[in-house]
Amino acid sequence: MREKVVSGIRPTGKLHLGNYFGAFKNFIKLQDQFDCYFFIADYHSLTTHPTPGDLKGSVKRVLAEYIALGLDPEKCTVYFQSDVPETAELYLFLNMNAYMGELERVTSFKEKARTQPDNINAGLLTYPVLMAADILLHKAIKVPVGKDQEQHLEMARTFANRFNRLYNNEFFPEPQAFNFNTQLVKVPGLTGGGKMSKSAGESDTIFLDEPATSLNKKIMRAVSDSGPTEPGADKSQAVQNLFDLMSLVCTPETIGFFDTEHKNGSIRYGDLKKQLAADMETFIAPMRDKIESTLANEKMLQEIAHLGAAKARKSAQETMAQVREIIGFSKFYM
Ligand code: ADP
Ligand code: TRP
Repeated sequence: MREKVVSGIRPTGKLHLGNYFGAFKNFIKLQDQFDCYFFIADYHSLTTHPTPGDLKGSVKRVLAEYIALGLDPEKCTVYFQSDVPETAELYLFLNMNAYMGELERVTSFKEKARTQPDNINAGLLTYPVLMAADILLHKAIKVPVGKDQEQHLEMARTFANRFNRLYNNEFFPEPQAFNFNTQLVKVPGLTGGGKMSKSAGESDTIFLDEPATSLNKKIMRAVSDSGPTEPGADKSQAVQNLFDLMSLVCTPETIGFFDTEHKNGSIRYGDLKKQLAADMETFIAPMRDKIESTLANEKMLQEIAHLGAAKARKSAQETMAQVREIIGFSKFYM
């Protein structure tokens, strides 16, 4: 049997470069080698984006992006999380053995509690439990995600091991965060801060269907610094971010050239940004066209969603029949 792979992206907006290099690029490669389940994490969206309008707009779009950017529904299972209600059942069972203290210590919870103080809901607290349910439902062992999800994967292992200890020693395998290049990826944003993110705002983020004009504008306005203080000086965080973005789309020669210019103290950030914008446009243009034409093909997207739901439910139902039995819900009256 081929190893199982699971990953999902929340439909909280359009996909961006961080999603692509942190997660999606690996999805495409993995589908050829493993039994892959890639889903749209619509339940998870409710922890931060509880309005129906947000959800309706984004779910179809993310599915279209999945397909346009290279997921092949014949090779892997592509589905919506909410089409697999077994997810909610496993989440409930896992919640019974998830402890308040450990959930409160999760970095993403603390951060969300800080950024949305008026909506510190229980779903935010138990976010890692729902995520563990997504993964364990298919008994996945590889989970292609970006660096920011490392701690959630650690929690998934904790819940899997706890279940195994309580009930059945070898039931759930231990899932691991996965990237082909061993290191998990963090794509920086354009405003000099941390990771590129849907929630960090338009000017921070490059979407995979970014129009050429705004792409150029965003990169030209990206935060840099006032230049190296002396030859050989270290790069500031903002400038390192620009180099990190270059490493995604520029040739080694281009990067080497600007690196030397920086070392010499003669770098002109305007030139660097122009080159970055041009190379980024070359990278994004074909994606932009493909996303648009896929979005227009509603019938195909509907068929893909139906097919994926059926395949994902089959796998989920197999696991849940076993889980119910193990926990003690085998029905004497059936
Ligand atoms: P966002 O942070 O924009 O809301 P998600 O949380 O839905 O995006 O992330 C979906 C996937 O994309 C996850 O695997 C996550 O690790 C990855 N990802 C998101 N942003 C980045 C980034 N800036 N760098 C690397 N990976 C990222
Ligand atoms: N938490 C992930 C994110 O924000 C999305 C996600 C939900 C996920 N369930 C998952 C990723 C299961 C991998 C496996 O990026």
